[in-house]
Amino acid sequence: TVVILDFGSQYTQLIARRIREFNVFSVVLPCTVSLEQVKALKPKGIILSGGPSSVYDADAPKADPAVLAMGLPVLGICYGLHFIVHHLGGKIESAPAREYGHAEVTVIAETPLFSGLPQVMNVWMSHGDEAKALPEGFVLTAQTSNAVAGIANEARKIWAVQFHPEVAHTKQGMELLKNFVIDICGASADWTPEHFIQSTVERVRAQVGDGHAICGLSGGVDSSVAAVLVAKAIGDKLTCIFVNNGVLRKDEFAKVQTTMREQLGLNVVAVDASERFLTKLAGVTDPETKRKVIGGEFISVFDDEAKKIFEAEKHDGKDVAWLVQGTLYPDVIESSSVHGPSHTIKSHHNVGGLPADMKLKLIEPLRDLFKDEVRRIGRDLGMPDDIIERQPFPGPGLAVRILGEVTAERVAILQEADQIVVDEIKRAGLYRKVWQSFAVLLPVKSVGVMGDQRTYANTCAIRAVESEDGMTADWAPLPYEVLRTISSRIVSEVRGINRVVYDITSKPPGTIEWE
Ligand code: XMP
Repeated sequence: TVVILDFGSQYTQLIARRIREFNVFSVVLPCTVSLEQVKALKPKGIILSGGPSSVYDADAPKADPAVLAMGLPVLGICYGLHFIVHHLGGKIESAPAREYGHAEVTVIAETPLFSGLPQVMNVWMSHGDEAKALPEGFVLTAQTSNAVAGIANEARKIWAVQFHPEVAHTKQGMELLKNFVIDICGASADWTPEHFIQSTVERVRAQVGDGHAICGLSGGVDSSVAAVLVAKAIGDKLTCIFVNNGVLRKDEFAKVQTTMREQLGLNVVAVDASERFLTKLAGVTDPETKRKVIGGEFISVFDDEAKKIFEAEKHDGKDVAWLVQGTLYPDVIESSSVHGPSHTIKSHHNVGGLPADMKLKLIEPLRDLFKDEVRRIGRDLGMPDDIIERQPFPGPGLAVRILGEVTAERVAILQEADQIVVDEIKRAGLYRKVWQSFAVLLPVKSVGVMGDQRTYANTCAIRAVESEDGMTADWAPLPYEVLRTISSRIVSEVRGINRVVYDITSKPPGTIEWE
């Protein structure tokens, strides 16, 4: 294990992910954790992340300086370098010119951290402060034309760089991190999917004991992988609840049940509550109200089902109740803040929230992972590609893709159009290349002509975006041929749509979903 102490940089999670890319386990902890907590993990090394503050700010994030004296190798990155210099008696100053973006760094001293790297490197910088005087025992290992770029004190096993090796713009960043983690720390590269599966299964089995767990299935990657993992640990002591909220994709309610039961062997309770949801959605046009209605209704349906399950399964006087959630790292919203990971469940997470008056304990087996890592785990669990490769689908489903009122009729129209988009994107081999691709039904009618007849029908927008994590996205330059086929198929096959437009807005300023 390598411990990453987080000083609040937007890139901290990337460090963890890079390290896991070479099969070494790493955990991110808020910089404020105690020395005991760090020691308990028996780490092979410590990485101090970057951060937005200056070491002189009144509320500058602080770690226990004793981490620098544990005898473990330490790598400071950006603010991590400032922290080291500041605490060991050197001097940090505000730089006359901020360095932001690409920079050229020259290695000026041999050190194992730069082993095998070129003497001149193109790196990514993002800082306003710089080291002006090094602490005793430190040498300058690299510099840019005007500032300190790397320092080391090999006797104390401390290295630091001013640039960000974890971002893709730093070409040799991976090698640098590998030099630190593998060669300097001697961490073993045994964090493989099998290892993760095995240790998670053991942990969950021990945690749940004689208890029972429930899991809300959405049909998406995260909840399915979480459910399969937990089922591997506790078998039929896990019951999955799958709710039809009336705004799923075409045939999804039936298809997901079949896959989950027959291919994945999960114990699934399927609840068709579509009428209940659509009744509640009648007359609602405001996007936030739609989300609230769906979220609220979901909790109430889920609550009812969960109670039935626990009543039925209460046995031996033990009724320890667990809730499995497919929360991923990016869902743990405040995790990158220096205040430490938040345990709040995202209000828009598919499960919507904990059943109101049941004291369920959470199992979140995927909490440390990124989506591509979850897919890797799913593949290793033998799950079928059509689940693993699924594009994200929002909890409020097609409701946030039907602008204006959501009615059964409009859901049916959008389901048909959506199916065509998915089919054609898959047929063109683009399904995995784009982050999401879907249709949106607009409350706009326009005039058309079909077979000598005047038409007056709905407009459908096509949205396809490329993204790493959904936080930012570019509209995808789909080939005209694909757009042509999608458009002509929708207009000729979907009754109620006579015009198709393509959304060419990136995020920001747009969002991915239209509501
Ligand atoms: P936006 O539209 O905010 O979406 O750019 C970013 C990503 O989040 C998904 N999304 C949701 N997922 N419940 C969810 O489970 C929601 O209410 C929700 N809203 C947006 C969206 O599909 C995209 O992947």
